[in-house]
Amino acid sequence: MLPTIAREQDTVVMIDQRKLPAEEIYVRCKSGAEVARAIKTMVIRGAPAIGVAAAMGIALGMRRSKATGTKQFATEFQKLCDLMAATRPTAVNLFWAIEKMKKVFADAAQGGCSVEEIKQRLEDEARRIHDADVASCRAMGVFGADLVPDAARILTHCNAGALATAGYGTALGVIRAAAEQGKKIAVLADETRPFLQGARLTAWELVKDGIDTTVITDNMAASMMRLGNVDLVVVGADRIAANGDVANKIGTYGVAVRAQAHEIPFYVAAPLSTIDLNTSDGSKIPIEERSDREVTHVGPNRLTPEGARIRNPAFDVTPAKYITAIITERGIARAPFHESLAALVESGQLAAGSRQ
Ligand code: MRU
Repeated sequence: MLPTIAREQDTVVMIDQRKLPAEEIYVRCKSGAEVARAIKTMVIRGAPAIGVAAAMGIALGMRRSKATGTKQFATEFQKLCDLMAATRPTAVNLFWAIEKMKKVFADAAQGGCSVEEIKQRLEDEARRIHDADVASCRAMGVFGADLVPDAARILTHCNAGALATAGYGTALGVIRAAAEQGKKIAVLADETRPFLQGARLTAWELVKDGIDTTVITDNMAASMMRLGNVDLVVVGADRIAANGDVANKIGTYGVAVRAQAHEIPFYVAAPLSTIDLNTSDGSKIPIEERSDREVTHVGPNRLTPEGARIRNPAFDVTPAKYITAIITERGIARAPFHESLAALVESGQLAAGSRQ
């Protein structure tokens, strides 16, 4: 399995996704603030991986705190949670993970735990969030593989793989599970301008796994579909609203519209931590605008003339009506999504409750 993120002694270590595939370099974050910076600058990216990184960064930051009393410790904790929350706005897994860490902190503090005990509980929770994410991806893979025919040409957009999670991947988890079951899989990976997650990261992962991979530029997908080269689409998600609208990497909406026009199933694979029942529909999901430079340049080379205005929304929203099904670790949701998603979230909460 690819090493996306790990805890090593007094550091959180992550592979630098900005450098792949040219270089496999690991970044060692020595503080919570360094982890927050790594999230903001895309050393690590992908909704579930961002959540895991935030939890590990909070645990690391608090482990290094010099506070002796719980009051000072609580102030530092809140500050670090705020710093993490300000890194990226769209992926709800970030806020989900911060809330989980806050709950552990509050329960421990109310239970009269010492600073040292709270530190340990935060570490334990971060590890649980990491391990649960890998388990979710594996479970999603099993559910999702059932939707994949014995021979399938699958189009995916962005990177929803091991690199975007604690391991194995969501959309790529489905693809991996289908391949592990002996299905004959060929993947079309959208390049995914401007950050090139598809060309750089998805292709890197799949080639390493020996899965048949073809990279196409984003504007080739419609033609590939019309020529009959795509049997299904599977993508990940950054936030799924209660009505089933899905925020994912910019360009996903276009892929979904084209899939529907060609009667090709369009699947979304995401853990329950990506489902935000507090957001009623996609219009309420905050969309991150990233730096102009991602659009104006490829590496050091400028593409656009000085003076042209630039837009760089990093995500778009695919309305639920374009989505055939949403694959989660608790099963598959279909329309009407406001009912099926709520039922899956409830079953996840019950299962988590019975494990405690
Ligand atoms: O800007 P990024 O690279 O963090 O965006 C990532 C995506 O949009 C992924 O498709 C999504 O997070 C799902 S990852 C399992």
